[in-house]
This record gives sequence, structure tokens and C-alpha cells, in this order.
Amino acid sequence: MRIALVGDLHFISPDDPSRRWRERRRHFAEAWPSFARTVSLLRDESPDLVVFLGDLVDYYSDENRDFALDQLSALKTPWLVTPGNHDFSLAGETDETTPDRPDTDEIRRRWAVRGVAMGNRSVDADGVRLLLVDSPDSSVPEGTADWLRRETDDSARNFLITHVPLNTPEMADYILSVEPQRDLRRYVQSKAPTLFDEAVRGRVEAVFSGHLHFPGHVRADATAMHLLPLGLCAFGKAYRGQGGICFIDTSEKKSPVRMRE
Ligand SMILES: [Fe+2]
Repeated sequence: MRIALVGDLHFISPDDPSRRWRERRRHFAEAWPSFARTVSLLRDESPDLVVFLGDLVDYYSDENRDFALDQLSALKTPWLVTPGNHDFSLAGETDETTPDRPDTDEIRRRWAVRGVAMGNRSVDADGVRLLLVDSPDSSVPEGTADWLRRETDDSARNFLITHVPLNTPEMADYILSVEPQRDLRRYVQSKAPTLFDEAVRGRVEAVFSGHLHFPGHVRADATAMHLLPLGLCAFGKAYRGQGGICFIDTSEKKSPVRMRE
């Protein structure tokens, strides 16, 4: 079985009503045509399942949600997502005075209304267990460490998928080596600082994350940690490795993970 992992997409609908913000975020607002290349790469590889690493939208609006889901429908492949911070943020011109401003719970409900689950989940696929961790604000839901320990307590090969990278010294060093100005409070799971030691070390074969918008591969003990680049190509702005996709081939025991650019 082949599983594709795709990084942040940041879709903005041409119909989204926040005009000023859409203009300011033009590098994402006009990026969506490049998703056709991602779709064609995916069709070429014909994975059995696609997992998105969050930030399906650049900011939440019903229009952006519907546009993103419409874009993903071109895949014709089952897909899952683990949520990103942008899936719950609002346009910058939205403030407390904006009528009917949805809070995070309401936004989660609106994703759910369209059938998009975003909580912690495990999915078994051909001898592999995918653990989707809900981490958009650099924390994880209460009980996540216990849940991960339970889920990884048998012989399945475990792969963890989280928008915000786990907080390990190896990952922190790597991020700062590429972009020294990054604030690690936002770019690793700073509010779940012990999750790796408590529930991942020695239990999980590989971890996949988005959020940074650049690729990378580091190792923490026996766990391989993969950062994925943007899942499409931004408009007028070059993000390193953008459009690259990661594949897990479950039949490969030694090197199951492969990047394709
Ligand atoms: Fe992002």
C-alpha cells in the first residue's frame, strides 16, 4: 500500500469576501492553479490514501473551506487531514467587532459539517498504524500522551502525523539552522514539550510534520522526523522544496519513505 503525505496548502477562494486580506496574502491567494501539478503527481503515483498535514486554508471562511474541499475532490482518492493553525485562524481584517465571528469550537463544527474530522485519530492501513495528532496551536489535547502509548503498545509499525513538529532538540536545532529567526514557541510543540519522551521515543518509526514551509529530515534516536514543504507552489514567492510530496510504501521494511519533487 502506498500512502502520500502532502504539506500545507493555504487555499484562499477567489470568492472569499475578505478582499484586503486576500490581496495581502496574494502569494497564497493566487497559488491554487499550481495544485493541478500536485494532483498530477499524485495521480502518477496512484497512492491508496493521501494525508494532508494541515493548513488546508490560509484562514477560515466558509468560502475558503468549500474551495479547498472542491480542489481536493480532484484527487479521486480517499484523504485525511490533521489540522493546522491556519485552519482555525481568521482573516486579518476580522476583529471582535465583526458580526458572527466564529470561535475555534464553531470553526471545528463547520469543518465537521463538511465531513472533515480533525481530532486525534488512529488509522490502520496494511500493517501500518497512522497516528494523526491534533496540534494546531503547538499543544495537543489532554490525554494525548496516554492515547499514543495505548495505540503504540502492539507490534504495528507506527507513523505519527502532526502539523506542528514535535519538540525535540534535534528538530529545534534543525529549524534554527535553516531559519535562525524562527520562534520555537510557535514552530515546535512548545506546549507539549515532553510528548516525544513520554509517548514517541522507541515506539514510532517516523514522524511527519508541516508548518515550517521548508523540507527537512532529522533523526531522534530510532525515529525519523520528516518536515514537508508546501504542498503546492506559491505565487511570486519561492518556498524551498515547494510542491514536493512524501510517500510511504508499506511493503518496504527498510526505507519506506521517499520524497518526490
Ligand atoms: Fe502553513
